[in-house]
Amino acid sequence: MPSEKSVYEPSAHASKGAYVTSLPQYQQMYRRSVDDPEGFWGEIARHFHWETPADPARFFRYNFDVAKGPIFTKWMDGATTNVSYNLLDRNVRNGHGDKVAFYWEGNHPDDYSRLTYRKLLEEVCRLANVLKSRGVQKGDRVAVYMPMILEAVVTLLACARIGAVHSLVFAGFSADSFAERIVDCGARVLVTADGAWRGDKLIALKSICDQAMSKCAADGHNVETCLVIGHLGRVTSPKGASQRHKTPMTVGRDIWWHDAVPQASSSCYPEWVRAEDPLFMLYTSGSTGKPKGVLHTTAGYLLYAATTFKYVFDYRPDDVYWCTADVGWITGHTYVVYGPLANAATSVLFEGTPFYPDHGRFWSVVEKYRVTQFYTAPTAIRALMKFDERLVKRHDLTSLRVLGSVGEPINPEAWLWYYRVVGGERCSIVDTFWQTETGGHVLTPLPGATPMKPGAAGFPFFGVEPVLLDEGGKEIIGEGEGYLVFPRPWPGLMRTLFGNHDRYELTYFTKFPGYYCTGDGAKRDADGFLWVTGRVDDMLNVSGHLMSTAEVESVLTEHRGVAEAAVVAKPHPVKGECLYCFVTVTEDGVFDERLLRELKQHVRERIGPFAQPDVIQNAPALPKTRSGKIMRRILRKVAVNDRDVGDVSTLADGTVVEQLFAMRPPDAAA
Ligand code: WTA
Repeated sequence: MPSEKSVYEPSAHASKGAYVTSLPQYQQMYRRSVDDPEGFWGEIARHFHWETPADPARFFRYNFDVAKGPIFTKWMDGATTNVSYNLLDRNVRNGHGDKVAFYWEGNHPDDYSRLTYRKLLEEVCRLANVLKSRGVQKGDRVAVYMPMILEAVVTLLACARIGAVHSLVFAGFSADSFAERIVDCGARVLVTADGAWRGDKLIALKSICDQAMSKCAADGHNVETCLVIGHLGRVTSPKGASQRHKTPMTVGRDIWWHDAVPQASSSCYPEWVRAEDPLFMLYTSGSTGKPKGVLHTTAGYLLYAATTFKYVFDYRPDDVYWCTADVGWITGHTYVVYGPLANAATSVLFEGTPFYPDHGRFWSVVEKYRVTQFYTAPTAIRALMKFDERLVKRHDLTSLRVLGSVGEPINPEAWLWYYRVVGGERCSIVDTFWQTETGGHVLTPLPGATPMKPGAAGFPFFGVEPVLLDEGGKEIIGEGEGYLVFPRPWPGLMRTLFGNHDRYELTYFTKFPGYYCTGDGAKRDADGFLWVTGRVDDMLNVSGHLMSTAEVESVLTEHRGVAEAAVVAKPHPVKGECLYCFVTVTEDGVFDERLLRELKQHVRERIGPFAQPDVIQNAPALPKTRSGKIMRRILRKVAVNDRDVGDVSTLADGTVVEQLFAMRPPDAAA
């Protein structure tokens, strides 16, 4: 296995003709980006269209210190623009009208299509006109619940065209979770599809939306329009699946996309919005349970998505780029939609899963479209490396030049397999660290320039200054490990949490005044490489899906039979982490198979299938301090069956620990 010292030079194949071809060149550009942010980003801004130019005196301002007043970040104040204009009209005018924006590859290999920049612009305008006709105005939120289809992209850009704020919720979230988010953002219009196949499983999206809308109504919030794409009728069903699926439609509220959109005009004048007007919001888990509506604005996000995409993937005009992330996550927003389109890129949009119709699907898609950049998550790599290498090797993957990883730390074994088996030792790997909040990559190698170490995110992107702090808030210089924070913003950093600026300041700027706090730990090695070690707060990362322990605990305790619950992360060979739950039943409750089944089902319904616990253990009592605080450190030890629990002298009742070890269920294997 590679050690911290193993270094892989950027591949010659990736370096040749790259935008940045050497470490000194990166260092020089990086210096400039932090010494002269106005100059650096100002030059990049010149490639885009501004209806009103920015005021040079107010190009970049911020405050990160709560003691000095409210936290804010502003880029390009005074400028007005429209993101959809920059992604579509500008590219069409520059001669890319007939260029393919997306190759769509369906769940079933028989289903595929393509969309050019010109056609995408027309579709966006049509939908924008429909949204306007349903009363959507600048600043209004639009809820979106979509599979990976071209209309998802059309919907986001149609919102941007009229200055509406899209709030897309990953279609793996349950009706309850979706309803909570619709009510929080106050959306009156929802866009969805009748359903979609994931592998051979049918996801009845519209039915989930119906449940969510009734829950909203019960909370006093009415969704007035639900626009539904008829997707199931145009795709191939998996073998043996029933062809019939009826979609219930509520008259007056629900309209079929095909009854409204094709008839609308294909031109729609863009709404010019201000640089700091919101572009979209996207919910992410909060450590106190309630999801946080991370808000991104217009100019800064556009610049940052465009620039990170260009340099981190080293995208060149004839490349075909493929990011496998679902559009429901920030990776889907920045690196399926905004970043690629801002660069007039050609991308693959994939609806399916890596395992359907067989475990070689990813590689057959790479071969089919001659993909040059492939971007996926460590959990997918770990799942695929379990199968015979021949599944990969029988495909021609020589088109690949850059391989990306995102969502969680990538373990060296997975990194090496990706490098060797998928990349044939010819590709550079970019292990990109970032967050919903950061808008785009913040720590990452550049494929033609920076040496790589398996498992290290490496170096900061342009304009990003990482700092490591110790518990006392003192900066760690040189080698060391601490909290990963940033003393000033780059253009793509979120601006607030929707409707809750106090929570924004409290969550991200209070622990270490003067810094944006990521919630992750990181270490810097002797060569200056940064290694993100994972969350330092009560967050879990299951297959790249971030969730909080508090969120799952509160759902478990909703069950009548449960008195108390505590959830910890347990390392998992494929998912990275999984949920290990400790449950104390009520006086008249019984811990049996039925309770287990009900709890698992309840978590699926309240949060989503991806949050289902792997282990639920009976805990007659939880290890608590005298002041009543649950000692999660001990629970984490029980989860992995490590009896080296350390100091337990502060526990109110020390016998609990032994009892918990003795009661580990058989399926909890160490
Ligand atoms: C984790 C996903 C290590 C990290 C873009 C972060 C990573 C959280 C990496 C954000 C990486 C993401 N190496 N850890 N390359 N990428 N993370 O908001 O803990 O869904 O805070 O954004 O994922 O997850 P989010």
